[in-house]
Amino acid sequence: MAQRQIKLGLVTTGTGGPGDSNRWLDPDIPLDASVNIDWYIDVVRQAEAAKFDLVFIVDSQYITKDSPPHYLNRLEPLTLLSALAVATTHIGLVGTLTTSYNAPFNLARRLASLDLISKGRAGWNVVTSGDAGAAGNYGRDEHYDYETRYGRAREYLDVVRGLWSSYEEDAFVRDRATGVFLDPAKLHALNHKGTYFSVKGPLNIQRSPQGEPVIFQAGDSDYGRNLGAASADAIFTHASSIEQGQAFYRDIKERAAKLGRNPDQIVILPGFTVYIGDSDDQAREAEQHFRRIDQSFEQSLGEFGRSFGWHDFRQYDLDAPFPVQALEFARTSFYTAAKRMTDLAVSRNFTLRETVEFLRAARGSPFVGSPETVANEIIRWFDGRALDGLNIHLGHPSQFTRFTQEVVPILQERGVFRRDYEDTTLRGHLGLEKPRAAPRAKAAEVWPLAASA
Ligand SMILES: Cc1cc2nc3c(=O)[nH]c(=O)nc-3n(C[C@H](O)[C@H](O)[C@H](O)COP(=O)(O)O)c2cc1C
Repeated sequence: MAQRQIKLGLVTTGTGGPGDSNRWLDPDIPLDASVNIDWYIDVVRQAEAAKFDLVFIVDSQYITKDSPPHYLNRLEPLTLLSALAVATTHIGLVGTLTTSYNAPFNLARRLASLDLISKGRAGWNVVTSGDAGAAGNYGRDEHYDYETRYGRAREYLDVVRGLWSSYEEDAFVRDRATGVFLDPAKLHALNHKGTYFSVKGPLNIQRSPQGEPVIFQAGDSDYGRNLGAASADAIFTHASSIEQGQAFYRDIKERAAKLGRNPDQIVILPGFTVYIGDSDDQAREAEQHFRRIDQSFEQSLGEFGRSFGWHDFRQYDLDAPFPVQALEFARTSFYTAAKRMTDLAVSRNFTLRETVEFLRAARGSPFVGSPETVANEIIRWFDGRALDGLNIHLGHPSQFTRFTQEVVPILQERGVFRRDYEDTTLRGHLGLEKPRAAPRAKAAEVWPLAASA
């Protein structure tokens, strides 16, 4: 049997994302990186030259004055990925799009278009929007509660996938001799009428060389994990230790198996920043250096409110016990993350200052060292089933260059990462089966919304 292969994704938050609001001070980063298509093309081509599987574009549709620079001013994912599609040839193109504030017909159409423009390299990171404030940009007073958010997401996926099966693979005859363009028997309306959506179809676009876009998922609650286990081809997550990675990995694959899926057909990809030096000591110094300049305590305190619906924690005494009442503000936001932070603060009797400081310190990367050390550690996590691949945060460009030029060749020598692309589609890179156009069982009949595994 062929050796299992590590998957690599690139995540870029240009001028600086959560936890690194000062990254734009690095002279290697153009001041307008997050809206500069030439810069995106350069870094994505760099990842493609290193044979990366994909580039992942995160997104949100709500900002405050405390949002990090990349969030304040950035390109819309599908527009950006369409431009990248024609500037690259192999790398997968994954965009974050929310099921809470898009119509499914329109989203299915735009993603299918990207899939054709890129010749089968599109992926969709299905999110329900953690930033509750997005509601106000779409005519709603409040964001949906979890039950509704994930209920919509589940039904949404049924609709979008159903629309992608509007045409069978060989529906277009396109025979000039006979004058037959379409075989009408191979065109199917959807006629979906559900709890949240009513969509007739059919969709006016054919399938792509990979069948249909790859589904990614990133929610971490019980709802989110069930959605991922039931419907995703790949999962984005975070892991700060190998044990944490292993627990998440096991949990998702067990949930998938219980739902009758082949667990090997779900690729688990936690995201990491890496710090590389000539020696392990030098790498640790580089990490200290970059992390010191990347974010001040005041910036971390402002940003801390994001998971709690951008609640302003500057109103509290920093040295008083952690204000647990703030969790209420997270109900429709990033509740899973906010609850985890609150539980941590309570269990350790932390003040607000200690909580923010602890989380700042916890942002440290598990992948710090010489190229050899980092490669060894990646393989240890991979062999230990803590991940199927890694999403590498571009971070400081000099560090990403070291990763592509010094760590990737070691992974190749060890036989765990490709030397060249074997395929031209994202599904092909990820080792996923190509789905055929077919009616699918409705998700609501197959898996429960929130019951634990
Ligand atoms: C690795 C990772 C990446 C995420 N990326 C995004 C994103 O780009 N945009 C977004 O709105 N939410 C993103 N989310 C949040 C999820 O969409 C979800 O709404 C949020 O985590 C709250 O739901 P949960 O409690 O199920 O996790 C991400 C979550 C994780 C774990």
